[in-house]
Amino acid sequence: MKKKIAVLSGDGIGPEVVKQGLKVLDAIGEKYEHEFKYIHANIGAIAIQKTGNPLPEKTVEACLNADAVLLGAIGDPKFDNNPDLKVRPEQGLLRLRRKLGLYCNVRPVKTYPKLLHLSPLKEDNIKGVDMVIYRELTGGIYFGEKATSKDGQTAFDTCTYSVNEIERIAKSAFEAAMHRRKKVTLIDKANVLETSRLWRRVVTEFAKQYPKVELDFMFVDNAAMQLVIHPKQFDVILTSNMFGDIISDESSVLVGSLGMLPSSSQGIKTSLFEPIHGSYPQAAGKDIANPIATIHSVVLMLKSFGLFEEAMAIDQAVSSCLEKGIGTPDLQPTITYTCSQMGDVISAIITGANVYYDRVSEGISTII
Ligand code: IPM
Ligand code: MN
Repeated sequence: MKKKIAVLSGDGIGPEVVKQGLKVLDAIGEKYEHEFKYIHANIGAIAIQKTGNPLPEKTVEACLNADAVLLGAIGDPKFDNNPDLKVRPEQGLLRLRRKLGLYCNVRPVKTYPKLLHLSPLKEDNIKGVDMVIYRELTGGIYFGEKATSKDGQTAFDTCTYSVNEIERIAKSAFEAAMHRRKKVTLIDKANVLETSRLWRRVVTEFAKQYPKVELDFMFVDNAAMQLVIHPKQFDVILTSNMFGDIISDESSVLVGSLGMLPSSSQGIKTSLFEPIHGSYPQAAGKDIANPIATIHSVVLMLKSFGLFEEAMAIDQAVSSCLEKGIGTPDLQPTITYTCSQMGDVISAIITGANVYYDRVSEGISTII
């Protein structure tokens, strides 16, 4: 198979983790005889620095002409605390989501037996958690009309949703539920928000097409609590843009590290794959960031190409590292690897090279 991939490394640790993702993809290409061609393009703070625009036209074109997009991370502290800036790195990502019509953001959350101790939550509660968040990604308060008054005394953001926007993400969530434990939980704030009441009406009606799927409703404040006290009750979570953003960061606590969770965003044009973590500027350039979320995003990309055996090969390589206690510092491993060593070892497992895991601490090359 031949695939063209637009690679948007972005900011902070983005370039380091994406490099490992591509390394692993190359290992898959070698082992299974696929050809992956990469087209690199700028987005975020780095794009602002180079072109003044967080999403240059060339980047949009590269994405539209590709079979998939792999994105690293976006954001730079230089921009975070100055509310007066008109040009911001995050605009690059938000505009790209709109331009590609990426309305369906999928964030799987699965705990690993070996990492349970990393979570501040009780092991018994999080053991066996396996859920997926379907977050609407191109509507709601993120994209509604917004403004600050001339005198700077008031500001507003509007949240709008249409039946069509709700139905299409609901379809993705119910289809996913059919292949899972057949339960959808709609998270909203229908006791307060008109848009949430529309979500409830539309989703309740839509669910009639899926009589085998149990539909459950939960207010977002309660859901935030249920996620930490009884997360195993969730199978597929369906929610709006803003609530999905918050709930998905919270759910990373179950897994023990934000560095583990991947995402895919699907829609009308090319799909995009990215780790859910941010640009982690404190770690940038230090080769300590966890590349697993990006590598898992590559797994989701391969599945979208129908390459299930290849996807499984990566999953197994990652699991086997974790089982052996190998990981980046955030995982508090017994054998600490750098970001690039993680990429090396996962690639080596895939291609079948000999790997001597425990010799890295002696500074001896681990892959022969
Ligand atoms: C995410 C991020 C983005 C979002 C930011 C970077 C705009 O937090 O993908 O979850 O809020 O959607
Ligand atoms: Mn977020």
